Amino acid sequence: MTATPSRPVVLTGDRTTGPLHLGHYVGSLEARLKLQDEAEQYLLLADMQALTDHMGRHFTVRENVIEVAIDYLAVGIDPAKSIICIQSQIPELAELSMLLMNLVTVSRLERNPTIKEEIRLRGFERDIPAGFLVYPVSQAADITAFKATVVPVGRDQLPMIEQTNELVRSFNAGVGRDILVECGALLSPVGRLPGVDGKAKMSKSLNNAISLGAEPDEIHKAVKRTYTDSNHLRVDDPGRVEGNVVFSFLDAFESDKQRLAELKRRYRAGGLADSALKRLLDERLQAVIEPIRLRRQRFAKDPGEIINVLRHGTERAREKAAATFAEVRRALGLAYFA
Ligand code: TRP
Repeated sequence: MTATPSRPVVLTGDRTTGPLHLGHYVGSLEARLKLQDEAEQYLLLADMQALTDHMGRHFTVRENVIEVAIDYLAVGIDPAKSIICIQSQIPELAELSMLLMNLVTVSRLERNPTIKEEIRLRGFERDIPAGFLVYPVSQAADITAFKATVVPVGRDQLPMIEQTNELVRSFNAGVGRDILVECGALLSPVGRLPGVDGKAKMSKSLNNAISLGAEPDEIHKAVKRTYTDSNHLRVDDPGRVEGNVVFSFLDAFESDKQRLAELKRRYRAGGLADSALKRLLDERLQAVIEPIRLRRQRFAKDPGEIINVLRHGTERAREKAAATFAEVRRALGLAYFA
């Protein structure tokens, strides 16, 4: 057997605050499907991170761990190729976070643009849960515990990668050895899908998302609501393609690019009705979602099997995290009894 050249180590994380939707599918699940054949890929269900602003609603976090795991399997993540694991069940991640926290200042955490924006959105003002403020450190622990070299993220998460690499450099310099590994972000080529209302990114909490388990009728309704161009009142009026959510969706789901270019041309010129475009979009979305929905239904009937997949993946992930943490411990002189 020939030795496998060292494969990239990929780590993705999803805060388990809700099931995944079509925006996640286009933004990241498709990329993960491809990566699972090329990399050592860890999919981390970040329930500890979800809890940083969900204490009191913690049961939803637990439910969503299972839902997101079902989403992964339903879109075709193969547990024989990708390692699906639960953050809270890998204590080494929390231990590593404790140590890394000593290498970052509170003011640096407060300057993290992602955190700043999230604090604003949640209206925390000065009443920020300490766990929330330090979640970038816990995220750095997630990444470094697996010695991930590649982290697929959306643009909003880039400050997290930067902060992780700062911690890696600071830790390695402190112990005088390269134990932790720096990582690079892998930005998804298609930006996240807009929500059907055209106002923001697709997000369940903004009520503008299409879920991966959507029934045919829900898809019809969502397509009906999908924002086009508020000035396109008569069929013959020229229409706008930019900012038109139906076209954003067709960019993602219509594989016949020539046909799509022709539709855009006709829409701009005037004479193409929104209803005709929406019929095409409905057809495309039904075709994408139907197999996912059916697989979701099958997996949802077998919770024991989901737990088995999670148990097995978490065991494998824990081995890797524990090996890294043992090195960290030794480097800091904390291996008293070894
Ligand atoms: N912060 C990510 C999110 O908002 C989730 C996450 C947790 C993550 N740990 C990670 C992402 C590690 C990448 C790497 O969904």
